[in-house]
Amino acid sequence: MTRLAILISGRGSNMRALVEACRTPGFPAEPAVVVADRPGAAGLEIARGYGLPVATVDRRRHAGRESFDAALHAAIAGRGADLVCLAGFMRLLGPGFVARWRDRLLNVHPSLLPAFKGLDTHARALAAGVRIAGCTVHFVRPAMDEGPIIAQAAVPVLPGDGAESLARRVLVEEHRIYPLAVRWVAEGRVRVEGDTASVDDAAAPRGALVNPAPDAPDAAAAPSGAAGGKDRRRHA
Ligand code: GAR
Repeated sequence: MTRLAILISGRGSNMRALVEACRTPGFPAEPAVVVADRPGAAGLEIARGYGLPVATVDRRRHAGRESFDAALHAAIAGRGADLVCLAGFMRLLGPGFVARWRDRLLNVHPSLLPAFKGLDTHARALAAGVRIAGCTVHFVRPAMDEGPIIAQAAVPVLPGDGAESLARRVLVEEHRIYPLAVRWVAEGRVRVEGDTASVDDAAAPRGALVNPAPDAPDAAAAPSGAAGGKDRRRHA
């Protein structure tokens, strides 16, 4: 059984999704500890509600990043965790910590990486006019929001979307793919080769998400059945 350390900074909805997944029969992982870098992180209350061990490693109590990272490592390793899941953990970890947990350290990010790394992803995606947004679960490397991608989910950007409505739609998918990725890693099915990862025996999805939908009323003029016909719509 893989033991998870789940690291949070705030709300903790991805943490909750992981904890809920761990409660389903046959799931190959269990929560070992939930660690926050802020004492007021709302997710800590959720974790306590599940009766999970929690810890706070407050960045303000550490003079530098190395001391913070060492305290974080101690909090995780002390609970026998062997896979670390960043779940809305909004702090860049140092290269030493990342190397120590290499390929045992996952992150979820609310964009289709490598697009829109960093903060305010949804506002930036909307400003860029993309038609398809999404989220990514990946292994962590020292650079922010970089590392071999395990899973992604795509959602359409809809007319009238603001950053909040788009974030809500993406978050639903985060809650789906993060537990999936953890399951695959815990089952030993994820192989990392260089900058990429692959999942053994994973089913290939069918079809494509096209936005706007080809059958929408305003797209009715599109040529029908024209295999290889022109389609100037963007597939992001
Ligand atoms: C999530 O959308 C997560 O993808 C994002 O913060 C949110 C945390 O929500 N993380 C990042 O942007 C990391 N680069 P949650 O606390 O409810 O899980």
